[in-house]
This record gives sequence, C-alpha cells and structure tokens, in this order.
Amino acid sequence: MKMIKQQILAIVCAIGVMLPIAGAQAETDKHARNLSASCAACHGTSGHSVGGTPVLAGMDKELFVAQMQAFKSGARPATVMHQHAKGYTDEEFELLGAFFAAQKR
Ligand code: HEC
Repeated sequence: MKMIKQQILAIVCAIGVMLPIAGAQAETDKHARNLSASCAACHGTSGHSVGGTPVLAGMDKELFVAQMQAFKSGARPATVMHQHAKGYTDEEFELLGAFFAAQKR
C-alpha cells in the first residue's frame, strides 16, 4: 500500500512540474508568432514572401540571427532592415530565428 502511495505522489509531482513548463513553452511560441507578425508586411505570413523580399521561412536559425545582428550593428548595409533590427533584443532574434526555421519553405 505504501508503495502505491509513493508512486501516486511521484506522478502528481511530475505533473505539477510539467504543467508550468508546457505553459511557458506555449507563451514563448505565442510571443515568437506575435513578433513575426510585424515582419509579415514585407516577408509574407510566417516568412513566406511573395514579393521581392527574401523568404524567411525555413531559413537557418544561426544564419538568421547573424543577419539580424549584422543589420543591427550596421555591418550589413540595408535599405530598411537596419531600422527594423534595432527594435529587437538578442533573445528576440533567437525566438524569431527558431520560429522562421520551423516554417516549411
Ligand atoms: C518594410 C519592409 C520590411 C519589414 C517590415 C521587414 N523586412 Fe526584413 N527585409 C526587407 C528587405 C527589403 C530586405 C533586404 C535587405 C534590405 O534592403 O534591407 C530584408 C531582409 C531581411 C533578412 C535577410 C534575409 C537574407 O536572406 O539574408 C532577414 C533575416 C530579415 N529581413 C528579417 C526580418 C524580420 C525578422 C522582420 C520583422 C521583425 C523583418 N525582416 C521585417 C524588408 C522588410
């Protein structure tokens, strides 16, 4: 009987630990999607550009973050992206990079 009690306790604890993590992940995804919405005007929904702007969907995350940092620092000359990149933190570049990398081309 004691054994079963301990197992139940372990399961309850595991669920208690897992729920907040799942919630935090959902929040992170939502934040990334919200951030990406301001890119949609030029890069299309979820990075599926239909105009002349580069397609972001399926872009390698490391490459994405490097490009955003280069725009921000001015290392990569741009027409508009240097302005956009200034509004985001490195953490947000990471979030956006993961979001766009996860989109199918
Ligand atoms: C006003 C239109 C516009 C908006 C809004 C915009 N971009 Fe861009 N983006 C461009 C253009 C144009 C380029 C090509 C470089 C340049 O001239 O600035 C570009 C290039 C890029 C590149 C380089 C792609 C490559 O293949 O090297 C990345 C990454 C990028 N944008 C990410 C973003 C993200 C992330 C957002 C939203 C936070 C965003 N852009 C919002 C117009 C836009």
